Amino acid sequence: MSNILAPSILAADFTVLGEQISAVKSGGATYLHFDVMDGIFVPSISFGMPVMTSIRKCTDLFFDTHLMIEKPDRYVEEFAKCGADGITFHIEADPDNAGRIIRHIKETTSLKGVPVRAGISIKPGTPISAVLPYAEEADMILVMTVEPGFGGQKLIPETIDKVRALRAFMTAEGLDTDIEVDGGITGDNIADIMKAGANVIVAGSAVFRGDAKDNTVRLTGLIN
Ligand code: DX5
Ligand code: ZN
Repeated sequence: MSNILAPSILAADFTVLGEQISAVKSGGATYLHFDVMDGIFVPSISFGMPVMTSIRKCTDLFFDTHLMIEKPDRYVEEFAKCGADGITFHIEADPDNAGRIIRHIKETTSLKGVPVRAGISIKPGTPISAVLPYAEEADMILVMTVEPGFGGQKLIPETIDKVRALRAFMTAEGLDTDIEVDGGITGDNIADIMKAGANVIVAGSAVFRGDAKDNTVRLTGLIN
């Protein structure tokens, strides 16, 4: 299991998005995190398929797609066709069909010709017990460290306890499923979060506020 930084383009400067993506890549990032918001599951609306299609032409980075949308199952094929390498949905969006959606994602082929990786996410108020039944089948569990919907928030400290409990469960079960954290991650709290057991670290503001390449180099250095 490797430690990965996933810069979130939600915080990027969209007037120079191509340059910002080159900057994080040259800083050592291998993932790019896409926050897709529908204005219903979360209050805000961000971007969707056309933006991903366009960026796919300029980079081979792993596209880590975070769907903050209702009925996520509807969009699995479409995002795979636009270049998604991983698709993460919220269990709160469709709690009765979570297992089926994970299988659907994993049965879908990415543009790179390999199965799309499946992630399942919980909001800060959702206990880890909701996702434990999927800890083996999912490729990744995303523990939100802020309320989904907006970048630039402060990390909710209690969410780190959820990461710790989830990693302890997985270790006891002999699982090495990725644990991703997202929201309010900075150079100051990254060590605590990793110590708790997260290995995929999303960062928006901490990467794109200031020099994206320098920030990526610094944060990548902190997690490896
Ligand atoms: C929040 C998004 C996050 C957000 C992270 O709904 O899922 O990915 O962009 O941004 P920062 O790192 O600025 O909190
Ligand atoms: Zn996200």
